[in-house]
Amino acid sequence: MIDWINSNGIVTLTMDDPAASANTMNDTYLAAMASTVERLQAEKNDLVGVVITSAKQTFFAGGNLQMLSQIQPEDAAEVFETVEEVKRQLRVLETLGVPVVAAINGAALGGGLEIALACHHRIVADDNRIELGVPEVTLGLLPGGGGITRTVRLLGLQDALMKVLLQGQRMKPSHALSVGIVDEVVPAAELLAAAYRWIESYDGDAKQPWDRDGYKIPGGTPASPKLAAFLPAFPANLRKQLKGAPYPAPKAIMSAAVEGSQVDFATASRIESRYFVSLATGQIAKNMINAFFFELQAINAGASRPAEVPKYQARKVGVLGAGMMGAGIAYVCAKAGIEVVLKDVSPAAAEKGKAYSEKLLAKQVQKGRMSVDKVEEFLSRITPTADPNDLAGCDLVIEAVFESEELKQKVFAEIAGVIEPDALLCSNTSTLPITSLADGIDRPDDFIGMHFFSPVDRMQLVELIVGEKTSDRALAKAYDVVRQIKKTPIVVNDSRGFFTSRVFGTLVMEGAAMVAEGVNPVTIERAATQLGFPAPPLAMLDEVTLTLPMKIRDAARAAGDSAGAFDDHPGMAVADRLVTEFDRRGKAAGAGFYDYPADGPKQLWPGLWEHFVRAEVEVPLLDLQERMAFAMSLETVKCLDEGVLRSVADANIGSIFGIGFPPLHGGTLQYINAYEGGLPGFVARTRELAAAYGSRFEPPALLVRKADAGEKFA
Ligand code: NAI
Repeated sequence: MIDWINSNGIVTLTMDDPAASANTMNDTYLAAMASTVERLQAEKNDLVGVVITSAKQTFFAGGNLQMLSQIQPEDAAEVFETVEEVKRQLRVLETLGVPVVAAINGAALGGGLEIALACHHRIVADDNRIELGVPEVTLGLLPGGGGITRTVRLLGLQDALMKVLLQGQRMKPSHALSVGIVDEVVPAAELLAAAYRWIESYDGDAKQPWDRDGYKIPGGTPASPKLAAFLPAFPANLRKQLKGAPYPAPKAIMSAAVEGSQVDFATASRIESRYFVSLATGQIAKNMINAFFFELQAINAGASRPAEVPKYQARKVGVLGAGMMGAGIAYVCAKAGIEVVLKDVSPAAAEKGKAYSEKLLAKQVQKGRMSVDKVEEFLSRITPTADPNDLAGCDLVIEAVFESEELKQKVFAEIAGVIEPDALLCSNTSTLPITSLADGIDRPDDFIGMHFFSPVDRMQLVELIVGEKTSDRALAKAYDVVRQIKKTPIVVNDSRGFFTSRVFGTLVMEGAAMVAEGVNPVTIERAATQLGFPAPPLAMLDEVTLTLPMKIRDAARAAGDSAGAFDDHPGMAVADRLVTEFDRRGKAAGAGFYDYPADGPKQLWPGLWEHFVRAEVEVPLLDLQERMAFAMSLETVKCLDEGVLRSVADANIGSIFGIGFPPLHGGTLQYINAYEGGLPGFVARTRELAAAYGSRFEPPALLVRKADAGEKFA
């Protein structure tokens, strides 16, 4: 695992796990590092210095997430010992008495950066594909291999927390250099030479700053006046940032950093280990590792893509409709290098769509992230037009005109003879069933739903909807397009509202139903954010407009099929009354559950109390929160049972990335898996909720079957 080459007293340690494509903190590493540090200690009197690097594309990939996701509370003592052993080895390296340099040839994330931080000098190859950082917080963990203890001592508490630890920033080499976690950026070909040069010219005492006599933490300890002003506000700021959501990792990181800054290195390091163990043995880290690592990776690697279809790359896309969604779609396509023809009813409307890209790019320039040349090149890829003939040569069409079946079919007919004969045809409809839409479209086998989320440039998810006639070829091509524009595709079968809108609907309708019962709207919104929803239900219903559920219901009634239409949901009556009686249609109209004053933040409309809440009832907070989460999870089970969903991973990732299900719970199905008492516990609770709040909480047969069989959603 670690090759040892000694040349003129400089030992080069090259990490190279023979059984894996990347080096991780597994048993192989632990054993190899144990014998390596033993040998270094034995031979240290003959050594001039040590260089540590990697034979892999990445420098070191960090913790072994497979192992980490299986840790149980009863493993706490063993995990603590393992973490301490990793740290003991790194401590030997940094106290060896000879200069140790990290020659970082590839990504150094998590444990990778922690190894580098134990070195006296860090040099990184000048390659923008390389990322450095400790992103553990994004998986509900903390950097427990010395990452907190050393960054605090290297950068000071404030910078360590803000620039490295709390958001888990992934930094390019130049960014890492400016933050101060690496010392040099050199051309990749000169990496090792630079490391040797540094060692040869070194004439210090080969100690870390924090091991020198009288060493002080940069910026001071919590007792110093500057930090004394900053630190007390910190927990409150953190709570505000997380909107009260109970994420344990940021809090643990802050505690480990602050407590560790007041004690010696060894004690600080043990404090860090203890906080690490408390996170690693908990459920939230497991939920987050499962979703953000395993499921996301499987989806992006093509788990739901028909494998036999050759890979497709879009060259020229026609975007029909340059409104809010079409403009965003044009932007993300052009960003990926695809030529875009952006069509609307008039040249002015099309130009307006292109102007949206100009606005986003101007911000990039302002922030120094893009040059003016690049902006021009980017914009030259978008051609606004009102002439369907300009779509000649398009091998891909994405339609985003108004939500009308007739209009959508008409715009596809308009361009049928103009585009490439085998062009992929996609609709961004958010509510119209794909199969019936396909009925009016030439080549229905090449037609698929490609459902983006707003704002398109920021939302990572795209929901692909397979209609009855959609071919595997169309699905595979659509999947490739989504990856080409660097987004994450989930694949679902057709249904009214598909997967995401159906499940989203249960949340906002539940919020509205609570208003009808007389629950204080402030309490409803807070209950949601405290459970971890990035936005609360009433605000979200305003965002999508209150008329949307009504339109879906009316369309469902007209089609004689009420599935997924919330026809008899108690929340629907609230939306209906707000629109018809009070003309409050949501945010775009300037009034919904909230008022939207021009000169200040939105406020819940006082009329809600007067006309809806009347006599305020108190519902336990836990019930409010579980009703929201259960409503979404139960609808997800129904989607799985009906075959709308094709995989558990799609459900979890779709619910987090598309509709804001609390990431700490790992998605709507993982929420059921992890519920107290497992599936049987969840089923028992659904029955209690059904008895108290309505039959919509009755457990679907699939859920009961799985609970009885002792299974999980996996
Ligand atoms: P929008 O009203 O902002 O834009 C629609 C655009 O289509 C307008 O610019 C209109 O001039 C244009 N248009 C109308 N007839 C046309 C024609 N014959 N040829 C070319 N362009 C024509 O609407 P928005 O919000 O962009 O929605 C578009 C589609 O995306 C709808 O199907 C909607 O359901 C769907 N969608 C919307 C989401 C949202 O958050 N707004 C999210 C996901 C999907």
